[in-house]
Amino acid sequence: MRLFLKAAVTAFVVSLAGATGALSQDGYTNTPMSLDGIGKSYMGREIAAVMGYQGAGWLERSTRVEEEGTDKLVPLLNLKPTDVVADIGAGTGYFSFRISPLVPQGKVYANDIQKEMLDIIAARKAKGEGANIITVQGGVADPKLPPNSIDLMLLVDVYHEFSYPREMGQAMARALKPGGRIALVEYRGEDDTVPIKEVHKMTEAQAKKEMAAVGLTWVSTDSKTLPWQHLMIFTKP
Ligand SMILES: C[S@@+](CC[C@H](N)C(=O)[O-])C[C@H]1O[C@@H](n2cnc3c(N)ncnc32)[C@H](O)[C@@H]1O
Repeated sequence: MRLFLKAAVTAFVVSLAGATGALSQDGYTNTPMSLDGIGKSYMGREIAAVMGYQGAGWLERSTRVEEEGTDKLVPLLNLKPTDVVADIGAGTGYFSFRISPLVPQGKVYANDIQKEMLDIIAARKAKGEGANIITVQGGVADPKLPPNSIDLMLLVDVYHEFSYPREMGQAMARALKPGGRIALVEYRGEDDTVPIKEVHKMTEAQAKKEMAAVGLTWVSTDSKTLPWQHLMIFTKP
């Protein structure tokens, strides 16, 4: 059932990545396109296709708390009331709305490349929730956030979809305050029992390699608390 759900969602892929032809930037190579991949790899990892807004309901499914332990994730972020948070690839705002009350003197940038996702967040805000959430439509290579402004960036099940991970990583590093953190949450690539297709998973070693390539320093990895995912913390020195 879980596999079916994921397969159903990934069927809603959209082609936001632009051309997947030959690229010359560092780390990128063209690869044969797998079912959920885009035919392009970065530092040896095939990039997954973007989950389209038509799959929004899957992000808000009632079984998600139990499957992914989402209620355990937010407390692990150790947020302060004044923190400025960016939820990169926010989707429907599943995490933005959970973080919003924890940073009453701060704010949450809900960032996504799909306007339809941001419209879902705006509609919920219009009903009175999440007054300190600011929606920001980013580009595939730039989240378009102010420089040196973010205390914590949260990326849940999104980084592996970035069609330009190097450029996104560099731009995210610019937007972080010195000492700011990135919380990277990815399905565990080392664990065959996690019922998610390979292209939607990442290993800890791969994540460390890609974050180091954009100047971010590994702080910690928790691979035990969440049922399926790594929580990896990196910081901007
Ligand atoms: C699988 S959804 C996860 C949504 C949310 N993080 C959650 O866990 O509920 C991935 C989201 O990342 C977004 N995305 C993909 N590439 C992106 C990029 N370069 N910048 C910002 N968002 C991106 C997609 O549009 C999609 O809404």
